Amino acid sequence: MRAAPAHYFLSFAPYFTQFALSAPLPPTRSAGLFRRKALSDLLANPPADEDLHGSHPGEHGLARHLTVRDLTSLGIAAVIGAGIFSTIGNASYDGGPAVSLLFVFTAIACAFSALCYAQFAATIPVSGSAYTYAYASFGELAAWIIGWALIMEYAVGNIVVAISWSDYFTGLLSGVGVELPLWLTMGTQSAYKGYHAVLELMQAGKPLTDAAPDQLEAYKAWAAAPELFGGLRFVVDLPAFLITVLITSLVYVGIKESKNASNLLVLLKLAVVFVVIVVGVFYIKPANWSPFAPNGIGGVLKGVSAVFFAYIGFDAISTTAEECKNPQRDLPRAMIYALVICTVLYVIITLVLTGMVNYKELAVGDPLAYVFNKVGVEWLGGIVAVSAIFAMASVLLVFQIGQPRIWMTMSRDGLLPPVFARVHPKFRTPSFSTIVTGLFVGVPALLLNMDLVIDLTSIGTLFAFALVCGGILVIDPKGQSNARFKVPYINGRYLVPLILLAAGALVLVYNRVNIDDFLRKVSFAEGYEGFRHQIPMLVFLLASLLIAVVSFRKQLSLLPVLGLLTNLYLMTQLGISNWVLFGGWLVIGLAIYFNYGIKHSKLNRAATAAA
Ligand code: ALA
Repeated sequence: MRAAPAHYFLSFAPYFTQFALSAPLPPTRSAGLFRRKALSDLLANPPADEDLHGSHPGEHGLARHLTVRDLTSLGIAAVIGAGIFSTIGNASYDGGPAVSLLFVFTAIACAFSALCYAQFAATIPVSGSAYTYAYASFGELAAWIIGWALIMEYAVGNIVVAISWSDYFTGLLSGVGVELPLWLTMGTQSAYKGYHAVLELMQAGKPLTDAAPDQLEAYKAWAAAPELFGGLRFVVDLPAFLITVLITSLVYVGIKESKNASNLLVLLKLAVVFVVIVVGVFYIKPANWSPFAPNGIGGVLKGVSAVFFAYIGFDAISTTAEECKNPQRDLPRAMIYALVICTVLYVIITLVLTGMVNYKELAVGDPLAYVFNKVGVEWLGGIVAVSAIFAMASVLLVFQIGQPRIWMTMSRDGLLPPVFARVHPKFRTPSFSTIVTGLFVGVPALLLNMDLVIDLTSIGTLFAFALVCGGILVIDPKGQSNARFKVPYINGRYLVPLILLAAGALVLVYNRVNIDDFLRKVSFAEGYEGFRHQIPMLVFLLASLLIAVVSFRKQLSLLPVLGLLTNLYLMTQLGISNWVLFGGWLVIGLAIYFNYGIKHSKLNRAATAAA
């Protein structure tokens, strides 16, 4: 008897998996904006394996090459980058050695989210990450919103990384005597801002020494740049653009090539991080750790955005679910491995860094290289600078892999035009989406200032994480799922209210000043301007109250609740102006959804046809 072709069995896989998991997903296809995708639909949707190729002429599945080791490596590739090599400098300057505790706190928030991501990845192993998870738990509108927010994490995050990469790269070139014209090494926005800041100084009759070094550089770049029209100058960050093009080309050509490149880059960067720690330990002067938190809790919390940015990325591997050999087993493991490894390294690096020099010296863009130059170990400073280039290239790589796969999934659902789901017949990668991602990252990287995009990345990601934790509470509030991985269930009935009360009591005892300040401002003692800045905290307090009540009544699973609360809390620390910008971004997304997605949604069309 002839054996049945593999695709025959594969076509049963979704039903089999659903039966095996018996995941208690809520009823599906509810009306309108809240219609949810059935697990069977989600699992049946992707042309998931090369064997399907023959049964779906004209369609191409993604190639399955990734193992748990590759996935952990991809996770580390995405996480260790601009955050630890660059933005940790300013965070340490503001918070002192206690920033290491902020790394621990942020890791805990990320760990709760990672557990929830892991359960989703084990339940719904298809591309699309949090977007797909939201489609199953909250429904279509929330899925669109989260997909839109994820653009902040992946594409906007990569703009930050590309700009930071360019800074290190041009610094390194200059170290070996190659000077690019300044007007080809920074974004138009940075040059414009710096030029005008210096101009104002000069008009006020102040000496140029009053200007910060990067402002002076911007001034020189703008002044030397070719003039375009209307006073505009041609100043662009060419290296940031070129590295994006290079990485995008690699991602376009294949996941296997990307995986090999990423594995190599991760090995290099881990080796350097180990050397930094091992050598750095010998230069620690414990006196530098005292005072541990020179600027109090406020100083430490100033670093939230930078520290959180350093963790972003462990979730990116969930976008490769259709390219994993065993996604339900390997994705949860890899996410947690990557997070644990990075947390341990981050905390040690922060302690080494703040132990080697006084925290006040760390307000530099290349703190790891700086400390070694400072203690006279220049050779290691040079190696760190070179490795930063590799580290950041690997972050770029993983995020350039992630973003097109989310777009591809949204397009398969009809929320984006079909061309976004096109898979390259030879390379088996989402071809059109990959090119669009390249342009979406590369062009702004030519023009924009890094500060603008770093906070947006963090707020968008925190929002996505909060929704993923909330999603687990919706699909599996009491941890009863049979998925191959699930968040351990601890009854939150009494624990959630108790933890919130304990946290409130601690703040009351140790941070009374902030509470008084908050109360004064919310009572309009400083007018609307003072009140406005307290809105995020007010939202958080109201949300906490609501969550405590629901946890008590429904005996919600503790860990996802804590994930939701910690992510919301970190969002409050990013300030109202970022909330407003992020709100604006969501409004644009909603306008697109109501003009396109809602009409073309496959679920919508199926529901209409059924009616
Ligand atoms: N976590 C990534 C980095 O630090 C985004 O570059």
